[in-house]
Amino acid sequence: MEETREIENASRAALKQTRELVSEMRALKVDEEIKHMEQIVTAAEINFTYRGPEDLINLPPLTQNMVAMCIREAGTNIVKHSQATTCSVDIHIADGILSIVIFDNGIGINEDTAYGNGLKGMEERLTFIEGALHINSKQGTCLNLSVPLGGDWNMIRIVIAKDQRILRGAIGTLLDFEEDFEIVGQAGDGEEAMTMIQRGKPDICLLDKKWTRYR
Ligand SMILES: Nc1ncnc2c1ncn2[C@@H]1O[C@H](COP(=O)(O)OP(=O)(O)OP(=O)(O)O)[C@@H](O)[C@H]1O
Ligand SMILES: [Mg+2]
Repeated sequence: MEETREIENASRAALKQTRELVSEMRALKVDEEIKHMEQIVTAAEINFTYRGPEDLINLPPLTQNMVAMCIREAGTNIVKHSQATTCSVDIHIADGILSIVIFDNGIGINEDTAYGNGLKGMEERLTFIEGALHINSKQGTCLNLSVPLGGDWNMIRIVIAKDQRILRGAIGTLLDFEEDFEIVGQAGDGEEAMTMIQRGKPDICLLDKKWTRYR
């Protein structure tokens, strides 16, 4: 009886922690960055248009974060360098690919302009999530960002790694009830956890404290 309660409490705590982690990882949000960009370009008297979905909250947390940072940098660059009178952001999700086009009608980026930290960082962030950045500067500046989302991109993928089988099962069952959570692996030891992380590419891994050396 006592043990059942302990398992129940531990599972609830794991669910609460996972929820907190998800919202922390989504601290930077794409839709908020678009609003922020609108504010800063409008303040610089540059026209702004957004075309795309209003609700982007379900993007995978890491993608959400990385793309939001790219949009912030692109907006800052437009204000700092472009001398544009108009700019736009277009977002499409099709065939498991998120594509973002950020355009401004300004002076364009010179072909031999060296990338600064801003553009380099953008490229690195996108590469990290297996995406890419293409810049076209024939007329104004057009940044094409693309990121593969995969099939079930609107699910938070979770690996649970705990050595106590019963507790692991209970946490798994509780988390699996959440509509946006998908358990992609359950591991009983650190070795197994590493394999599941590599194979399952989770957004989150609940790792047993004992195995912190695997982090
Ligand atoms: N939208 C744009 N229009 C015109 N030129 C641009 C635009 N974005 C970037 N550039 C040019 O590309 C250069 C590199 O941009 P990048 O963001 O990498 O560096 P930065 O903005 O100069 O510095 P940092 O981002 O590190 O503060 C800029 O210095 C600028 O000359
Ligand atoms: Mg910059």
